Amino acid sequence: MIYTDYLVIGSGIAGLTYAIKIASRFPTRNVTIITKMSEEESNTKYAQGGVAVVLNRTTDSFEKHISDTLIAGDGLCDASIVKLVVKEGPELLQELINWGASFDTGENGEFDLGREGGHSEYRVLHHKDSTGYEIEKTLLQQIDVLPNITLLTHHFAIDLITAHQVYSTAKNIQKCFGVYVFDQKTNTVKTIKAGNTLLASGGIGQVYGHTTNPAIATGDGIAMAYRAKANIQDMEFIQFHPTAMYSKNKGASFLISEAVRGFGAFLRNVKGERFMLQYDTRGELASRDIVSQCIDKELKKTATTYVFLDCTHLEVSAFKKHFPMIYEKCIECGIDIKNDWIPVIPASHYVCGGIVVDENGKTSLDNLYACGECSRTGLHGANRLASNSLLEALVFADRVYKHHTTLLPETMENIDIPDWVEIEIPTLLDIRIIEVYRKNLQKLMRQYAGIVRSNKELEIAVYSLAEIYKKVEKLYKQNSIHVELCELRNMINVAHMIITQSIARKENRGGYYNKDLVTEKITR
Ligand code: FAD
Ligand code: SIN
Repeated sequence: MIYTDYLVIGSGIAGLTYAIKIASRFPTRNVTIITKMSEEESNTKYAQGGVAVVLNRTTDSFEKHISDTLIAGDGLCDASIVKLVVKEGPELLQELINWGASFDTGENGEFDLGREGGHSEYRVLHHKDSTGYEIEKTLLQQIDVLPNITLLTHHFAIDLITAHQVYSTAKNIQKCFGVYVFDQKTNTVKTIKAGNTLLASGGIGQVYGHTTNPAIATGDGIAMAYRAKANIQDMEFIQFHPTAMYSKNKGASFLISEAVRGFGAFLRNVKGERFMLQYDTRGELASRDIVSQCIDKELKKTATTYVFLDCTHLEVSAFKKHFPMIYEKCIECGIDIKNDWIPVIPASHYVCGGIVVDENGKTSLDNLYACGECSRTGLHGANRLASNSLLEALVFADRVYKHHTTLLPETMENIDIPDWVEIEIPTLLDIRIIEVYRKNLQKLMRQYAGIVRSNKELEIAVYSLAEIYKKVEKLYKQNSIHVELCELRNMINVAHMIITQSIARKENRGGYYNKDLVTEKITR
């Protein structure tokens, strides 16, 4: 049994930022970060475009950023949360810079601001096209020098500990006492008791298979919170990024940043037509939900599997300077951006909903907090504005931290938590079967709960998912802890929330589009 004052699940921007702040403020209290792979592996590490923040208040304004966020969110943002995130952003960005993160500047020494879909101004700070890597590296350097932080890699959180497991407490209290975690190096399950637990476990992209997200994005935190009966909302609003590079074998995976469209690239259909202006006056820089829905229409109209991103008219040396990683990836795939168009398709990218939190990042369970992509703060509404996610993580990590400075972490001394009970005689698990169920799940989600949904398809999704669920639950009950199996179980929980919350939504908004709820106009 381990006791920690502050437990952080996840080592992306949200978890690390919080950990640095709380550990620096309370050097005598201990902070434990657990993460299921290596310390840097996260969605954060792959972020390309940058951080949206208003720095130059002569050309830009808080009002404009607020308005762009509200428009992108299609009427479902919480306006008070939008305001506070936009206004608190600049100071927190400066803090990140003070910790050592570097963002590109132009010849005049000012920040070189990029632009992405839905933004009315150039306001995206970036580090070439590897902004996330720069941020992750900077945060990990800070973590390294704080002696009261323990970072446990290859530690997989299985389930939150709630009153249900605890002997010495009433069963009806809604509270988190810590987590059961599987140490993948020793193959043992540990019990971590925590005064406060922060879920910073990131996104869900792998639920769809074709995704810009890395393998870690299996929605574990959202699924754990769901099983612990925390409130989860807006899961129907899955953001499909319009331009993932198309690959015949893998479908979609590598992201071509929206900043490339901000830099002037065009979208063309298979006939070579630049189609976006037919749908939206903002053309390629309409918000992401709109561009993905338009691409989906074009694909159906032309019976093809991808459209093209045309960069041939852009200056190659400037392109290489801004997007060196994307340029190299294209070369590696035999695409010379000067002469060739890049084949792209929309891919699952970001979950706008998640674990419901208040303005301090608190969930509906006591002692349980959430921030970053796994949380639902009210900032994104029905569709996230590009580059608002890193910003949200910075702001909410700070808010949870500030809230915790006003509270003493519970000691949990008298809390009696049983150890994890392992299956006595586990069956021999054939790992290939997990892969088969995982692929079935991903295909089902792409076919029946993708960019465009229908009542009939959602109905099919319900019973197809129920079949997979039954088989996987049986496997889970018959086997000792196995990370891929736990992840699959979590993805099934997440898929269930996406499907049921889709069925409950009775109007098309932002990233949710059901063709039986006809909305003639895609644009807004
Ligand atoms: P993550 O960075 O995903 O970190 C989650 C952490 O939780 C990981 O360390 C993971 O290993 C750990 N974890 C998960 N489950 C468990 C478990 N069961 N046990 C233990 N640990 C666990 N947003 C922007 O604002 N601007 C951009 O330019 C941008 N570009 C993007 C480009 C790509 C390719 C992708 C995929 C996303 C991009 N996003 C961007 C979105 C943004 O990167 C993420 O939303 C953000 O980084 C999420 O941060 P996080 O800390 O919440 O989660
Ligand atoms: C991108 O660079 O296109 C991703 C930006 C984001 O997801 O906010």
